[in-house]
Amino acid sequence: MKLCMIGTGYVGLVSGVCFSDLGNDVICVDRDANKIENLKKGIIPIYEPGLEELVLKNYKNNKLKFSTNLKESVLKSDIIFICVGTPTKKKGHGADLSQIYKVIKEIRGLISKFKIIITKSTVPVTTGDEIEKIISLKRNKKLFSVVSNPEFLREGEAIRDFNYPDRVIIGTNDIKSVKILKNLYLPLISKGTKYVNTSRRAAELIKYASNAFLATKVTFINEIANLCEKIDVNVEDISIGMGLDKRIGSRFLRAGPAYGGSCFPKDTKALTTTADKFKINLSLIKSVIKSNKNRTSVLLKKVQNILKGRIKNKKICFLGVTFKANTDDMRDSSSLLMIPYLIKKGAKINYYDPTGKKDEFKKLTNVNFSSNIKSAIKNSDLIIIHTEWNDFKSINFKKEVKKKNFILFDMRNIYSSTKMKEKKIKYFSIGS
Ligand SMILES: NC(=O)c1ccc[n+]([C@@H]2O[C@H](COP(=O)([O-])OP(=O)(O)OC[C@H]3O[C@@H](n4cnc5c(N)ncnc54)[C@H](O)[C@@H]3O)[C@@H](O)[C@H]2O)c1
Repeated sequence: MKLCMIGTGYVGLVSGVCFSDLGNDVICVDRDANKIENLKKGIIPIYEPGLEELVLKNYKNNKLKFSTNLKESVLKSDIIFICVGTPTKKKGHGADLSQIYKVIKEIRGLISKFKIIITKSTVPVTTGDEIEKIISLKRNKKLFSVVSNPEFLREGEAIRDFNYPDRVIIGTNDIKSVKILKNLYLPLISKGTKYVNTSRRAAELIKYASNAFLATKVTFINEIANLCEKIDVNVEDISIGMGLDKRIGSRFLRAGPAYGGSCFPKDTKALTTTADKFKINLSLIKSVIKSNKNRTSVLLKKVQNILKGRIKNKKICFLGVTFKANTDDMRDSSSLLMIPYLIKKGAKINYYDPTGKKDEFKKLTNVNFSSNIKSAIKNSDLIIIHTEWNDFKSINFKKEVKKKNFILFDMRNIYSSTKMKEKKIKYFSIGS
């Protein structure tokens, strides 16, 4: 099939590449000329395990193309996936859909034979209705179909998630589109992936409800961790004990920093805003948003207690600054709040992240990037494990850290407190 991905970011690039690997002809379009030029040279704009090999293979085989020419790419394609950003509006909590509508206005005049227009971007319920209305102003409804096909891939596991998703959701009542899209996803469905055909509005809401539920799970265990710290119970035992209940499940039930990333923060906010519009108060999700916002303050207070209130001139090392492991995505990572706060209190920050130096900290004084773990932790008073990269799981702190009384604050509960005690390392974790 001939596909066009509009927006070559995490979602557009990964799904475009994976669709091409399934044998489709895919053109990935982006307005960012630099990104497209780099991709043509084999330079991958994001860190995603396994992505580079797939891009190189399919680009070489001519199944995958990169372009900045929206018009030409849309004209050549039958299925158009919209994968542009839907960030939070500058004012308020709603989703900013300006990128979506800009694309729709650009492509509606290009529909001269039947095309399926798919929102893969996460869009509030009823956006598909609005898109259909906008296109209908210029084109007969028989010439196009607007479908919601939300994306559930996780950064860091995106290739695997595309090829082995828990489910594929196709939101449309249009029989012709259902037939075509079921065929497109057939290689995954025939491997056992669950396929759900539902209404467009339901598909749009499934995505938001799923993300809000997962955000709630993370926030739930984070609050339970706060209680554990007061009653001499280890939250890891709670996660295991709860997670073994099949009705609950163990995933997204690990205590740690506030949830971040490009999806949960913005999607929880957008969902409550949509509900408010329909005069429904999603009070539970609103509490989750509030609790998550407070989470960073809770952890910073703990840092303050660990250092007995003496943050000034302390050398604090962050191991990992992204919101989770195996991604370079810094969007809404809690380190973006923690590091400036600690700097303001007079700390000197050193950080190491396997995905390299971050522009986000460029303007801050007293923030230094180290190119490896050893040099990052060497002179630290306090080491904070912020992200759960495998690289941080077997560090010989006793050998590598030169400060005698250094402290380790493991925000991901990677290490065993018993073993740390045996090694006489001052160790703090979450929820114990
Ligand atoms: N990142 C994830 O893990 C993830 C997972 C599931 C769903 N989503 C959703 O998918 C959507 C995209 O997310 P992302 O993380 O890939 O965003 P992103 O910012 O990485 O990529 C968006 C891309 O769209 C391009 N773009 C914007 N307007 C354009 C236009 N008019 N023409 C061509 N290109 C244009 C941008 O230059 C950018 O490269 C969002 O709605 C997000 O909520 C993201």
